[in-house]
Amino acid sequence: MPDLPAACIAPSLLSADFARLGEEVRTVTAAGADWIHFDVMDNHYVPNLTMGPMVCAALRPHIQVPIDVHLMVEPVDTLIPAFAQAGADIISFHPEASRHVDRSLALIRDQGCKAGLVLNPATSLQWLDHVMDKLDLILLMSVNPGFGGQSFLPHTLAKLAAARRRIDEWQAQGGQAIRLEVDGGVKPDNIAAIRAAGADTFVAGSAIFGQPDYPAVMQALRAGITEGDTRRRTASHGPDDAATMLR
Ligand code: DX5
Ligand code: ZN
Repeated sequence: MPDLPAACIAPSLLSADFARLGEEVRTVTAAGADWIHFDVMDNHYVPNLTMGPMVCAALRPHIQVPIDVHLMVEPVDTLIPAFAQAGADIISFHPEASRHVDRSLALIRDQGCKAGLVLNPATSLQWLDHVMDKLDLILLMSVNPGFGGQSFLPHTLAKLAAARRRIDEWQAQGGQAIRLEVDGGVKPDNIAAIRAAGADTFVAGSAIFGQPDYPAVMQALRAGITEGDTRRRTASHGPDDAATMLR
């Protein structure tokens, strides 16, 4: 089984203290965050309302790492240039929320950002079939979008493994690098299995924000990722080994 790309941890601001967002992003990046995950909800595509491009622009000078904008909005196209101008580095959206998925992906890259597609727990990987060349990121939701603090849906492990196979096959044919991100219910006690299943980028909201010691949580998450790498290396391709890997 090929080694996975180096892991990225992307703390989700959804669980941060909204009265102290600047301080929160500085503290969490000092604790080792690789990206900042920025959840945009519109009370239309999802039943909650969060932050827009103005908040992203205000935080940009306080964030020295990539800003990973997760659009949970419908429609998506008008917000893409707005977030690009607000300093987003990566912009991803849900295919059900765009009339023209290929066009929205192209628009993100035209704006100079990396492009991602987000698949809900019940959304098929088949959405990836004809857009692999336009993707820099595939984000699999491991909860239904809209709220932080929900439990990881275990069927996501098999879906991650299937998405990892697609990415590996794509790259073996000469395709570009595509990151595989997971979002929802990621904790120190399940991140090893999630890594072993093939994820390389981990969103974590309630696991980090609100905890007393951000560096300690980041360290626990990284230890779990290392454990996941060990499980992959010791697993072969047999069904028993696959079960061990995903335990
Ligand atoms: C959910 C959001 C997530 C959320 C994750 O709709 O997209 O990014 O913040 O929060 P936790 O890690 O608490 O599940
Ligand atoms: Zn998110």
